[in-house]
Amino acid sequence: MRYLTFALTKGRLAVQTMELLERLGISCEEMKDKHTRKLIFTNEQYGLRFFLAKGPDVPTYVEYGAADIGIVGKDTIMEENRNIYEVLDLGFGRCRMCVCGPEANRHYLQHNQLIRVATKYPRIARDYFYEKKNQTVELIKLNGSIELAPIVGLSEVIVDIVETGSTLRENGLTVLEEICPLSARVVVNPVSMKMDNARITQLIQAMRANLPDVRS
Ligand code: PRP
Repeated sequence: MRYLTFALTKGRLAVQTMELLERLGISCEEMKDKHTRKLIFTNEQYGLRFFLAKGPDVPTYVEYGAADIGIVGKDTIMEENRNIYEVLDLGFGRCRMCVCGPEANRHYLQHNQLIRVATKYPRIARDYFYEKKNQTVELIKLNGSIELAPIVGLSEVIVDIVETGSTLRENGLTVLEEICPLSARVVVNPVSMKMDNARITQLIQAMRANLPDVRS
């Protein structure tokens, strides 16, 4: 039996995924060692392998078949736009993709003005402004601390993830428009889905049946 390989998004998503798998009786003790420098972990009992990756790299590993299954946020799936199957909403890692800025800049969104939009998610931002709103904008790609952009005058608004809203609040910004809800998803390589259909389907059904109750 060949190993089924999981690419997990480093951090909270990986921890919550391993907790879910433990409820199915699948554990991986060596992954819990915080000091380990190992990159790949195995569960011999079920023929599974796990590795941790940066979010945006997870769809890449899965598209190329280096991982059969990936756990990654919906934001990353949308932004990377890879040839992969999205098969399950895990319900955790819930947040929203939003257009944000100072309240005083709301009017820029209402009068289709040519504005600057800073974001880590240029594809999502482009689709939203060009396809949904028919508004021509200048997109400015940033790699983090996006909330800085409208404060220092780099852009009028930002497109970014809002979870609790405290980063916005503490910086005098607000949600101006909501683009879509987000959460962690399971993605599968299309060839793996054909070749190992029974194993993968069974695993996904077991995950679905053991999802944490995250309704609030
Ligand atoms: C994310 C996001 C926001 C913040 C939202 O940033 O880009 O900045 O979290 O969370 P909140 O609504 O609970 O305040 P992250 O911490 O991942 O870092 P980054 O800004 O460097 O990308």
